[in-house]
Amino acid sequence: MTARGGAAARFSRIEKARDPRQALTRLLPYLKPFQLALAMVLASVIIYTLLGLLGPYLMGQAIDRFIGGKDPAGLARIAVYMLVVYLLNNLFTAAANWVMARVSQQALQNLRRDLFEHLQALSIGFFDTHPAGELMSRLTNDIDAINQAVSQNVTSLLASVLSMVGILIAMFVLNAWLALATLIVVPIMSWFTEFIARYTRKGFRDLQRSLGGLNSVMEESISGQKVVKAFRRNESVIQAFRAQNDAVYHAAVYANTYAMMLMPLTNVLGNFFVIVLAGLGGWLALHNLVSVGMIATFISYGQNFVNPLRQLANMYNSIQAALAGAERVFEIIDTPPEVPDAPDALSLQTTRGHVRFEDVNFGYVPDTPIIKSMSLEAKPGQTIALVGPTGAGKTTIINLLTRFYEIQGGRITIDGSDIRAVRKADLRRKLGLVLQDTFLFADTVMENLRYGRLDATDEEVMRAAEMADADHFIRQLPQGYQTVLSERAGNLSQGQRQLLAIARAILADPAILILDEATSSVDTRTEARIQKALLRLMQGRTSFVIAHRLSTIRDADNVVVINHGEIVEQGTHQ
Ligand SMILES: Nc1ncnc2c1ncn2[C@@H]1O[C@H](COP(=O)(O)OP(=O)(O)O)[C@@H](O)[C@H]1O
Ligand SMILES: [Mg+2]
Repeated sequence: MTARGGAAARFSRIEKARDPRQALTRLLPYLKPFQLALAMVLASVIIYTLLGLLGPYLMGQAIDRFIGGKDPAGLARIAVYMLVVYLLNNLFTAAANWVMARVSQQALQNLRRDLFEHLQALSIGFFDTHPAGELMSRLTNDIDAINQAVSQNVTSLLASVLSMVGILIAMFVLNAWLALATLIVVPIMSWFTEFIARYTRKGFRDLQRSLGGLNSVMEESISGQKVVKAFRRNESVIQAFRAQNDAVYHAAVYANTYAMMLMPLTNVLGNFFVIVLAGLGGWLALHNLVSVGMIATFISYGQNFVNPLRQLANMYNSIQAALAGAERVFEIIDTPPEVPDAPDALSLQTTRGHVRFEDVNFGYVPDTPIIKSMSLEAKPGQTIALVGPTGAGKTTIINLLTRFYEIQGGRITIDGSDIRAVRKADLRRKLGLVLQDTFLFADTVMENLRYGRLDATDEEVMRAAEMADADHFIRQLPQGYQTVLSERAGNLSQGQRQLLAIARAILADPAILILDEATSSVDTRTEARIQKALLRLMQGRTSFVIAHRLSTIRDADNVVVINHGEIVEQGTHQ
């Protein structure tokens, strides 16, 4: 599946799995560990279905034998039986639902775990083509669709089918004429209700879609509020919202009108059914072909027959949605992970930081080369400045060194070993990355910095912040190092975020340092100050520095000018 554009497209997708059986066979292994519990559920369902059949029969007996026969003692006895049957029926229903809820929640917990852990193993390239919103929707909406079906509908479906079969058999055993009458009336009834229900469902689907449209208008105008205001588009956003709001109104009226018609109609038809049974039964009773109690039993059976029938359509939809959700979830779980480490992958122990690019070729998409036969060398401790226009391929070079993407030709070596033969975790531990766009987590400043090295003490974190010239502004934050940063760190300036990123890298103490426009968002005065810290940081490490300002690259050992993915010039600045 490819990336979809916009919320509207997301909501209009058809809720059907392309291959329902395949989705089911992928889902079933998640239930396998719970075979015993599921067997218990099945047993409970069978028991409560049989108890459900027994109730109406006992009622008929009570009418015929004990009310008709004027036997109060017998009536009291059968009333107690009925009470016991009723209690046991509900007890087993509750037990089945309780076990099923536990089983399904555990299975879903495992599925969520597998999905999330697999996401962590996927390559950066995967995230290029799958927007965060879409992935979030798999973890929440799709899993929830599966949840709905598994936790509620599997047992109900089983119980419905079982009780319908049971009722059919019981009816024919008890009285074939009344059974036939029921069999003729019930389908007509359910056809009528299904007819209305179809319009209701269509109505609610349309409602969903227009709600989706409304959501996307809201979402865009909230997250893009700065742009909306700057271009003075509030009025047109309001217009767009009004149109969508209107659509929601009309769709909701339509859907709810049909939904409300459904109830009375079902009641009327239900009464109609009772009348038919009572009429036919009465006629048979007058001719002594059937007892009054039997008629009561049948009316009760008939109602128990209609309910599951009506639920089946809903369950069908819910199960379809679940399978479609499962299909989307497994699509991710089945995406091959990042090229795994070779079993004989070397561990990169001590590193001097000798980096060589040999004839490297790479393109993000096939047939669009971005890096062309590039050869580049950084001797241990050297600083290499990469300069060149935007889009030249500077960041791409870094992406290849970190193995965020795999090269397509040539090789990259560190201290002589091909980075493809080295464990990724080892490789990345040697690399310290400061990027232009710093991601900070919704946590304290202290913990955000400690991300660089999880076992660092508070003192070490603060020393790193001092070296990055970040300590000063951190102390001025409301709670200093304990200030919780907001999501995406909206409460810090770009430059401050970069200083935190630099501190994080200092803490990690990498052998090879990579600064990709790391100081582009700080003013020249601050830059001059961190420059000193950076120089200290770069001491004894191999560094790749991508920068626009001359001041940053002045001291580089080699300035490499890149354009269109090729080195067009190199040498020292002087
Ligand atoms: N994830 C990506 N998928 C496809 N193309 C990309 C991706 N990232 C960058 N590119 C393309 O690769 C080229 C080089 O980009 P980049 O290395 O980021 O340039 P810069 O020198 O500005 O850092 C650009 O043409 C850009 O459009
Ligand atoms: Mg770049």
